[in-house]
Amino acid sequence: MEVCSHVVQRRLACTQVLFLLLAPAILLQLQLVGPSCVEAQSLASGNASWALLLENAGIACMHMAVTYMGPVIFLDRTDIGPSQIALPNGRCRNDSQDQTDTYDCSAHSVMFDPATNTVRPLYIATDTWCSSGQFLPNGTMLQTGGYNDGVQKIRWLSPCPADGTCDWVESDTNVLQAGRWYATNQLLPDGSQFILGGQYSNAYEFVPANGAGLYNLELLSSQGYFDWYPFVHLLPDGNLYIFANRDSILFDYQTGVVLQSYPTIPGEPRNYPCAGSSVLLALDGDYTDAEVLVCGGASIMAPGNVSAQYPASQTCGQIVVTSPNASWAMFEMPIRRNMGDMVMLPTSDILIINGAQNGAQGWDAATNAAFNPVTYYPDTSTFVVEPATTIARVYHSTASLLPDGRILIAGSNCHLTYTFTGEFPTELRVEAFSPEYLDPVNDPVRPQITTAPEIVTYNSAFTVEISLATAPTGNIGLTLSSAPFTTHSYSQGQRQIKLPVTAPAPINGTNAYSVSAIGPISETVAPPSYYMLFAINNGVPSTGVWVNVQS
Ligand SMILES: *[C@@H]1O[C@H](CO)[C@@H](O)[C@H](O)[C@H]1NC(C)=O
Ligand SMILES: *[C@@H]1O[C@H](CO)[C@@H](O)[C@H](O)[C@H]1NC(C)=O
Ligand SMILES: *[C@@H]1O[C@H](CO)[C@@H](O)[C@H](O)[C@H]1NC(C)=O
Ligand SMILES: *[C@@H]1O[C@H](CO)[C@@H](O)[C@H](O)[C@H]1NC(C)=O
Ligand SMILES: *[C@@H]1O[C@H](CO)[C@@H](O)[C@H](O)[C@H]1NC(C)=O
Ligand SMILES: *[C@@H]1O[C@H](CO)[C@@H](O)[C@H](O)[C@H]1NC(C)=O
Repeated sequence: MEVCSHVVQRRLACTQVLFLLLAPAILLQLQLVGPSCVEAQSLASGNASWALLLENAGIACMHMAVTYMGPVIFLDRTDIGPSQIALPNGRCRNDSQDQTDTYDCSAHSVMFDPATNTVRPLYIATDTWCSSGQFLPNGTMLQTGGYNDGVQKIRWLSPCPADGTCDWVESDTNVLQAGRWYATNQLLPDGSQFILGGQYSNAYEFVPANGAGLYNLELLSSQGYFDWYPFVHLLPDGNLYIFANRDSILFDYQTGVVLQSYPTIPGEPRNYPCAGSSVLLALDGDYTDAEVLVCGGASIMAPGNVSAQYPASQTCGQIVVTSPNASWAMFEMPIRRNMGDMVMLPTSDILIINGAQNGAQGWDAATNAAFNPVTYYPDTSTFVVEPATTIARVYHSTASLLPDGRILIAGSNCHLTYTFTGEFPTELRVEAFSPEYLDPVNDPVRPQITTAPEIVTYNSAFTVEISLATAPTGNIGLTLSSAPFTTHSYSQGQRQIKLPVTAPAPINGTNAYSVSAIGPISETVAPPSYYMLFAINNGVPSTGVWVNVQS
């Protein structure tokens, strides 16, 4: 395990202001100590590892989302020619507008079941190429846009267990205001979605639609080409942080007012076709501070001169976006990378995985795959270089956190159609990366959630029961992780909330402990949705259990 140290500002989040918001009775009862007050970070020991889960998923997974029912949505595009998995019951898609195959009996979306490593084909009617999405508060996927006949479409998928028959539903009448190809969605506190940008529009809109429908965003109008799939993070104060290319703003989407413009990030462009990735760091303390991390990208020259294979960006920028004079703290990753996915681990550390070390996004535009993921530890501003995979995951690859703590990896296709020859063949294999915390050496401290509520209510106390092989030596943290919609190296809607917890109370006669916590204080901290609730003991997370956060 190689550790690289970088000095950036330390996070100052140790605060108990939250408790002032609580009813006195709860206050007396809970004696809360926020997990963010733990100064020294405990790291899991052991080794990370890779596993091949499935040799052939049938499709190349361009978009991925983990449903609260367990199965994972894999989605490609329709105009890519026949896939390697047939639609069930002799079904075919007869689409005169499809640019490759107007009569196609193969599937372009599947449900992957991580419990059995099997897939079930789904029927997708119109082209979802470079589309966007996000889960609604009730766990239904709302999926938007794409290309050609799909560009203004809205689709839904209400998840079901692995043996179910749920499938995509598409509307011919309820459509987007603008064509959306390479757009970004963000779930809002009221359960609607904010949809921004893409190649065909510099405007944003809401689904369901409101007011005038389409609203221009100056930030995108001024950027031009390098702003597709912009980074959008809902901040705990209810405003949006929007980043495109190298510039970013604090935006009040309810009034259309830009509240703050941030300094330009040093270095390369960070969005398509030069994408790095971005996360909102775990929200904690009294939720007044929020920090954004942007890592990787490609040279501004790279998309225009693919033969030169410019080196990818090696830098990350971290910024306290809630500070009135916010500035970028820059530091280097151990490995340069474009098209890296950033995945928030249950421990609040960030895995940077997939991508390439040279070139840009696009057809055959990158080389030198980045086989080693790295983990970034925000509490100590250090990186660990993780073991390498043998499978290149370049353009159109995906990575998402599973409730069991593994990272599911699929896709990679830098060709116009499925192409199984050449340097980067279309990738149908599905892998999982297991971080250090899953090594069995951590089993003695691994918590297991034995009882948790199905519904977590805003600002209300709830209790979970946790079993542990050995008595805990400190607090057991509780975090909520959203299930994002992942595509093009960016996980739309990814967020994590650390909850304030009580000290673990032994449940007599068992190896179980009771921990009480307070649900997220507001819809702006955690928009209503399904979240994975994790317990963390000594840097080792439990398996997550799905809870629905609602008012
Ligand atoms: C981790 O890997 C190293 C090198 O292969 C090995 O020596 C060590 O025993 C492993 N640790 C665990 C906990 O398995
Ligand atoms: C596909 O649809 C077109 C137009 O509706 C129709 O003419 C054609 O016969 C259909 N093809 C097949 C194979 O069903
Ligand atoms: C989930 O919510 C959406 C939007 O309100 C609605 O259309 C859909 O029917 C709901 N799904 C279920 C399973 O209740
Ligand atoms: C592309 O880069 C190569 C290598 O640096 C250089 O020789 C060539 O002139 C560049 N082409 C263009 C069109 O800039
Ligand atoms: C903003 O900058 C001023 C002057 O550089 C400094 O005194 C102040 O502490 C800063 N405020 C914050 C919130 O960082
Ligand atoms: C659990 O055991 C402790 C110490 O033996 C005792 O003080 C406490 O009252 C017991 N709690 C319950 C709920 O039985």
